[in-house]
Amino acid sequence: MRPRRLVSLLLALALAACAHAKVYFKETFDDSWTERWTKSKWKEGEESEGDWAHTAGKWYGDEKMDKGIQTTPDARFYAIWAEMPEAFDNKDSDLVLQFSAKHEQKIDCGGGYIKLIPESSKDQMETFGGDTPYAIMFGPDICGYSTKKVHVILPYKGKNHLVKEDIKCKTDELTHVYTLVIHPNNTYQVYIDLKEEKTGSLYEDWDMLPPAKIKDPDAKKPDDWDERPKIDDPEDVKPEGYDDIPKTIVDPDATQPDDWDEEDDGKWEPPTIPNPEYKGEWKPKRIDNPDYKGKWVPPDIDNPEYVHDPELYHMAPLKYLGFELWQVKAGTIFDNIVVADDFEEAKAIAEETWGKTKDGEKEMYDKAQEEKKAKEEEERKRREEERKARGEDDDEEEEDYEPIHEDDDDYMETGKDEL
Ligand SMILES: *[C@@H]1O[C@H](CO)[C@@H](O)[C@H](O)[C@H]1NC(C)=O
Repeated sequence: MRPRRLVSLLLALALAACAHAKVYFKETFDDSWTERWTKSKWKEGEESEGDWAHTAGKWYGDEKMDKGIQTTPDARFYAIWAEMPEAFDNKDSDLVLQFSAKHEQKIDCGGGYIKLIPESSKDQMETFGGDTPYAIMFGPDICGYSTKKVHVILPYKGKNHLVKEDIKCKTDELTHVYTLVIHPNNTYQVYIDLKEEKTGSLYEDWDMLPPAKIKDPDAKKPDDWDERPKIDDPEDVKPEGYDDIPKTIVDPDATQPDDWDEEDDGKWEPPTIPNPEYKGEWKPKRIDNPDYKGKWVPPDIDNPEYVHDPELYHMAPLKYLGFELWQVKAGTIFDNIVVADDFEEAKAIAEETWGKTKDGEKEMYDKAQEEKKAKEEEERKRREEERKARGEDDDEEEEDYEPIHEDDDDYMETGKDEL
């Protein structure tokens, strides 16, 4: 077969393989993005209202392709949303939510997650914000040294449930792709850069349902339940005369000092010492308790609060997507959002976008770091020269010194608590 024919055949096979796949939403943020995205009126006019820029950022592989939306300026609430052309009911179907995030600002504290929102939140979308009901909250969250994780929050019956597994997010300044897949058999996967980071069960890795079994609160330990592993040996008896052994005895080696004067010092009494024969109070030997039954635990009973939900994965029809974030240091760029019913489809989109530009982005990033270092070195030298010219010692402190880069500045941890 000629190579071209082979390629066509492979393409045809690939297409056939995902013939049933459907992409409900795909956003690569080309210049028409404002037709689809609406800034929320949530914080409109308030000082805390953040904005969104359309940019590929400081480093990218392809300036046009890598354009996304970026939070700006620092320490604000950012809220923006889009409507999917068609609602997605994930009954009996996989659900895939994917997007990329680039924390090029070297984020110290701020969310980087997306929300998938049900159709039922329609009336609240205009002011979409922290209180707007959502179906999934997914993506990285970084704050200080302790929070560096991928959130997967699934609200269930009015309560938000965090994934109990610790899924570490990326903390560098490059673009990373986050993918969540939820299957109708109530299992899930989290991928970062198309690599599986976590897989498990919706029943086990969240506490959406209360425990199916509980300890019977009415059970009582039976009176004859013996919990003592060891007992005194009833056969053991105290040896005769045991209690007559004194604790102390007169020191047999002591002698009256030569200069002892009975008139002045009184009658000499030899000191007493501990009796080596004395073995303490008598105690019977300890033996294994033949009646030992182990520690009593109340029996398990069915939890009356438990109602099994065989469709934990099934969400209300989904219609909106949104970013609703608080960031101390803004500058995160979001891009390439996909909602689909097939992971392979989402993966193909990621490979066509991020996959094609990530190496170029890394190159540009590395170059920028080198330039930054060189500039800092130059600056350091310039200051040294200045110091020398003024005739100051090297170790003398410069009062007007200002750090060029603010990476080491301490920011307060003001991450917004989702729960
Ligand atoms: C659940 O479904 C997925 C996708 O069909 C499959 O890969 C996985 O093995 C299933 N897991 C279980 C526990 O059945």
